[in-house]
Amino acid sequence: MSEFSGFYKLSPEERLRKVKEYANLTDEEASVLAEEGSLKIATADKMIENVIGTIHLPLALATNFRINGKEYAIPMAVEEPSVVAAACRAAKQTLPEGFKADADDSIMIGQLQITDVEDTNLAIKNLEKNKGEVLKQAAQFMKPHEKYGCGVKDMEWRAFQTDAGPMIIVNFFINVGDAQGANMVNTTVEGVTPFVVPLTGGKARLRIVSNLADKRKVRASALWKKDVIGEDVIKGVLQGYEFAKADIYRCATHNKGIMNGIDAVILAAGNDWRSVEAGAHCFASLGEYHPLTRYERNENGDLVGSIELPMAVATVGPAISTNPTSRIALKILGAKSSREFAMAVACVGLANNFAALSALATEGIQKGHMKLHARNIAAFAGATNQEIDAVAAKLSEEKRFTVERAKEIIEELRTSK
Ligand code: HMG
Repeated sequence: MSEFSGFYKLSPEERLRKVKEYANLTDEEASVLAEEGSLKIATADKMIENVIGTIHLPLALATNFRINGKEYAIPMAVEEPSVVAAACRAAKQTLPEGFKADADDSIMIGQLQITDVEDTNLAIKNLEKNKGEVLKQAAQFMKPHEKYGCGVKDMEWRAFQTDAGPMIIVNFFINVGDAQGANMVNTTVEGVTPFVVPLTGGKARLRIVSNLADKRKVRASALWKKDVIGEDVIKGVLQGYEFAKADIYRCATHNKGIMNGIDAVILAAGNDWRSVEAGAHCFASLGEYHPLTRYERNENGDLVGSIELPMAVATVGPAISTNPTSRIALKILGAKSSREFAMAVACVGLANNFAALSALATEGIQKGHMKLHARNIAAFAGATNQEIDAVAAKLSEEKRFTVERAKEIIEELRTSK
């Protein structure tokens, strides 16, 4: 079904060879991935402040993803075992059709807070009268990005009372193209502020991007057929979904399972996962806190899963270009735009949610998860690279996933030599 079938059975070196060929990586790019700690301290020191080192996470590929008819190997960086395997398994079960996805234009919202307005009605009238001129002024700050299709699209405002007095909030809608856009938006809103504030007679306070990027949503869906996953899994996933709809404690975990996949892809690509997290949970809270995915049956009784959420992600920008691994991760993904990247992210989120629900509703999460976690436990207990697989296999066979038992097994292995 997929050229990556059995990918997980290869060694890391064999996987890298395969990916090098698949994504046309140069020798230098392949050696960056092979190298331990490719983000040099000198580079890291340019990225953030007070740098004392770098921190590493495993970088893996989610396989079996066919999205809108195109094959993807999707990079994921995550510390938790079974997240990648779960995504691969759920994606495999959608084949040969795979996922369908689409994304909005990259419209971000920039907010200007105006306080201490004496006459709110007059201020609003002035904003209405001068909207065209304000948009023209704002546009000049986006000039450098116009060649990438970026620009200020519109603005709106609202006035409200608060404990700190009346205020007017002006929202600017800005197309940021393939960038995440926060810097572009903040520059534009700060830039246009001196033209807007005199119209209101108030005082400018906060000027900042909103992380509820709900004009920049992504949607994905997939069909899991009854003859592939079985009636009991379909019933169990639907019942698990209803549990999340009815109970906020379950819903938080349901959405966490989605973010397992989403955050891992965002992180691999060197993007701002905090903004995506903030947007996702705020979006989930619109109305009543709800699952970010939906499940229903189609007319044949198969399972249709779908997801919708804001997705402010970038394929260009300084943070991505500076970190060599993120650059290569995006090359492997092969997304031509931030919209295409957003679609891949959403499909992984949906896949992770489906995989977790189908395991939870049937055999339980621990069987698959702990089998893969066993290697971690073995390493933590002190197994050498040569001993890890044998210790993990024994832990799985006995279904006793404790560090103490792993230590005993290591002792047994060493004394039996
Ligand atoms: P399995 O039945 O052993 O898999 O599942 P399989 O042997 O049938 O293999 C099917 C495909 O799965 C393979 O296809 C691989 O693509 C993939 P192939 O390549 O052979 O053509 N696969 C793997 N990929 C990479 N490494 C592996 C591997 N094994 C299979 N080692 C599996 C095993 C763990 C996938 C399954 O039990 C599963 O999906 N479990 C769910 C695990 C999960 O959701 N983990 C997330 C962590 S738990 C959590 O934090 C979230 C949670 O709280 C969220 C919530 O409550 O909703 C649960």
